[in-house]
Amino acid sequence: MSKRYLLMTFLLALGLSAAAQTPAPQDSAAAAKGGIQSQNILEVKPEVKPDASSDPNYAKQTNAERGRVQPGNNAPMWRGIAAGAEGYSSLPKSQAPEAGVLIQAQVQYPGSRMTTAGEAWRQVRNNWIIPYGGALFLIALGALAIFYFTRGPLGHGAHGGGKIERFTPFERSAHWTNAITFVILAVSGIVMAFGKFFLLPALGLTLFGALTYVLKSLHNFAGPVFAVSLVIVFLTFVRDNFPQRGDLGWLLKAGGVFSKTGYEPPSHRFNAGEKVVFWFGVFLLGAISVSSGLVMDQLVPSLTYPRQTMQIAHMIHSVSALLMMCVFALHIYLGTIGMRGAYQGMRTGHVDAAWAKEHHEYWYDDVVAGKIPAQRSSPAAPAEQVKTA
Ligand code: HEM
Repeated sequence: MSKRYLLMTFLLALGLSAAAQTPAPQDSAAAAKGGIQSQNILEVKPEVKPDASSDPNYAKQTNAERGRVQPGNNAPMWRGIAAGAEGYSSLPKSQAPEAGVLIQAQVQYPGSRMTTAGEAWRQVRNNWIIPYGGALFLIALGALAIFYFTRGPLGHGAHGGGKIERFTPFERSAHWTNAITFVILAVSGIVMAFGKFFLLPALGLTLFGALTYVLKSLHNFAGPVFAVSLVIVFLTFVRDNFPQRGDLGWLLKAGGVFSKTGYEPPSHRFNAGEKVVFWFGVFLLGAISVSSGLVMDQLVPSLTYPRQTMQIAHMIHSVSALLMMCVFALHIYLGTIGMRGAYQGMRTGHVDAAWAKEHHEYWYDDVVAGKIPAQRSSPAAPAEQVKTA
């Protein structure tokens, strides 16, 4: 510590103690008026009750009235601010609609106390979404891991019988754009929501802060790409995801997952499980996550973005995104290690006819009967003749 610093500290301490001992000139006069020592509320003597508070209208006083009887007491102003009152701001309303509102008005969300909106949002996020959403996601991952280690991959991975084009290049590129952006969004979302529990202790504040900042920016850019590719994926696959013959039976037998023989009930191009994932995961949760995400990215034209809109959008977005991550954890599991031969179809576009017969028998029958072409993309490479598998 330098000598100059020490000297300044000493002089400051001297000045403060002298000030504390020397009564302010108006001190005695103010004390006679009922305890108000000066404009500085820290100097009001607590043992002397300000007689102004005995006024029957005391609680209803405006800040100006309070200032007259108790100079320096700004409680009505702060009470107004805490209740969400709007004050003056020189910023234009069009750009900063809420600049005059220091503290948001009171509100109660499911799971929060009745309190100021910012605090209510914080309670919902920290007391519910983070612990229970995180637990749900871990339970989903744990269940898949247990299933994998007890039951192993589904299907026999049957080969042969020629190739059927299951996904055209367009369908695959739409799917993979969607899948890649989803994984970016999921990983960055996990770091933003849960990183402080598992990454912060390992990386330290500086690295964790920088990483989260980069991932948050990536999240904001990947979101719109995901939104566009989700619409394309929806339009591309919706035709084959409407309920069809055999879907109910497939669902009732849970796709034969628990049958001893491992026989999968017949289905069309997509089975009922895939259709549930499509309508619940892609369509419903996708629409909710994307629309709330676009609000948070401030990309919805003609919408203003006050804090409460952002807080509500955040709560909706994180709940739907967490549910979506659970649903797609199942989808990604079945599309990779969980089912033999499924990944190959989405990677190369083609599956073996024997695989098609094992997993989508009605679809296979339609291909064999010539109702659905074995090669759909054009210009078509000469497709191998599909033999009866
Ligand atoms: C790493 C991530 C992903 C992997 C490995 C993956 C893998 C697969 C595979 C292998 C298939 C073919 C299934 C079959 O042949 O029936 C498939 C189909 C499909 N995937 Fe993915 N996927 C991923 C992410 C996503 C995401 C994020 C979405 C949408 C939000 C999605 C939507 C679809 C759709 C709509 C289908 C067609 C099946 C249907 O419409 O029911 N996938 N995926």
